Amino acid sequence: MSFKRVVTALAVAIGIASSAASAAKELRLGLIVPGTHDWSQAAVAMGKDLEKKSDGKYTVTVFPAGQLGNEAQMLQQLQTGALDMAFMTVAEITNRVPDFGALFAPYLVRDVRESGLLLNGPTAQKMLGRLPREIGAVGVGYGGASMRLMLNAFPTNNVGDIKGRKMRITPFPPVRDFYQLLGAASTPMPVTDVYDSLANGQVDGVDADMELVWRMKFYERGKTLLYSSHMMFPVIGLVSGRVWQQLPPADRELISSTAKQHLNGLFDSYMQVEKEMLKNIQGTNVNVKVAGPEFFGDTLEKWEEIWLKRTPVLADLRKESAALRK
Ligand code: BEZ
Repeated sequence: MSFKRVVTALAVAIGIASSAASAAKELRLGLIVPGTHDWSQAAVAMGKDLEKKSDGKYTVTVFPAGQLGNEAQMLQQLQTGALDMAFMTVAEITNRVPDFGALFAPYLVRDVRESGLLLNGPTAQKMLGRLPREIGAVGVGYGGASMRLMLNAFPTNNVGDIKGRKMRITPFPPVRDFYQLLGAASTPMPVTDVYDSLANGQVDGVDADMELVWRMKFYERGKTLLYSSHMMFPVIGLVSGRVWQQLPPADRELISSTAKQHLNGLFDSYMQVEKEMLKNIQGTNVNVKVAGPEFFGDTLEKWEEIWLKRTPVLADLRKESAALRK
């Protein structure tokens, strides 16, 4: 082959390679939780999987710990297309679409496994379908977190002990109502501020989960872990509606099925993680008190009365969760 031909062949090969590379799309995915949190780990694993399944057409860059802003800001970025994806708390969605609040009904599910079954059931899946219209983002699936509990800097032997206490809450209506009915002074606060606030007495206790208590070391500042499992706390996978519109149908299917698989994997992993972290906490000075619905007395009925009026979704979810136990 002449020198000229070799140069031409090389130029063509380089051109093909660079056009394939320019066709590759980087998906930027934001989360509020730290990189060590299981939601962030699931996002990283999803990215690797997607890159492999798409032969490098898609890569995912994960921005944990609120690097791109808080969840309300990330939701705006999804709406404008400035952000491609997010794994976000359903709590934030509830602030925009109040029906999602029904997913936080106390004792709607008994554990994370049951939350996975309910969230993949007809009512919760139908709610996902409303998101493109109502928030401008596509919901590709739900995942779990460990069940909600309280870590308190005061002895908590009965429900009356919570009355008048300053309790940290995630700021959204179902949880705000719950603590108001308990007679607590609920203090809205992002999870990142909790450790210091417990340490300096700004709050007396926190609504949290086992992973936060252990990995973010809240247990160092608490006396009692009220292991109440009183609510689930789902995460939702979102893709910007604007970005979605530009994707070919086969790519939409690939991205949503891959994201769903990794989000759904959290239901199984948290069953295990919750047990391991409970064991760790039992090895500290924190007194672990197991509590069920009976601990909360008539608070649960009052919560239900308020929310049955607020959304028809609650009755449907209760029916479905009852059917899961038959
Ligand atoms: C919380 O506000 O308690 C929370 C936020 C993100 C993930 C898990 C919990």
